[in-house]
Amino acid sequence: MATVTTPSTRRALTPGSYDPITLGHVDVIGRAAALYDEVIVAILHNPAKAGTFTVEERIAFVEAAVADLPGGEIRVEAFAGRLLVDVCRDLDVPVVVKGLRSGTDFAYELPMALMNRHLTGLETLFLPGDPALEHVSSSLVKEVVRYGGDVTGLVPEPVRAALEERLREHA
Ligand code: PNS
Repeated sequence: MATVTTPSTRRALTPGSYDPITLGHVDVIGRAAALYDEVIVAILHNPAKAGTFTVEERIAFVEAAVADLPGGEIRVEAFAGRLLVDVCRDLDVPVVVKGLRSGTDFAYELPMALMNRHLTGLETLFLPGDPALEHVSSSLVKEVVRYGGDVTGLVPEPVRAALEERLREHA
């Protein structure tokens, strides 16, 4: 049977705010890298909205967290105030990979996936999240840290330390 390949079919993008990266994100990025030759971790941020971490900090946390993952090449880039479909078109990426922790995630992600497909044909590949990390989100770990809880094992260690320093100094 004939196979059809194009250069772009081997490249995927994992978009997100990554404020900050969690071990749930790391799991999805690693599994994407096992499926594709090249994975671009795209940090999409709104320049008008201050996050917990600066874009430079988020990039550094992601780069450290993915440095030892096996599989395809992983690179990290940040984009301000842009549509995901435009970023993917510029980078010649035909597919985004996203993790789904629950039906709630699916309800949130499906309209975006359909809109992206409507706009440019950009496809979305959903991977089931690791059930052991189903309860992990950037916003929830921040809340837990803010009120003194321990997020060891839920985020990369440098992120845990930075969260404690950043969020507890104002507690
Ligand atoms: O980590 P998050 O906050 O769930 O990531 C959401 C993100 C950044 C991937 C999404 O909001 C996005 O794609 N933003 C870029 C702007 C855009 O394209 N909006 C229309 C989506 S249909």
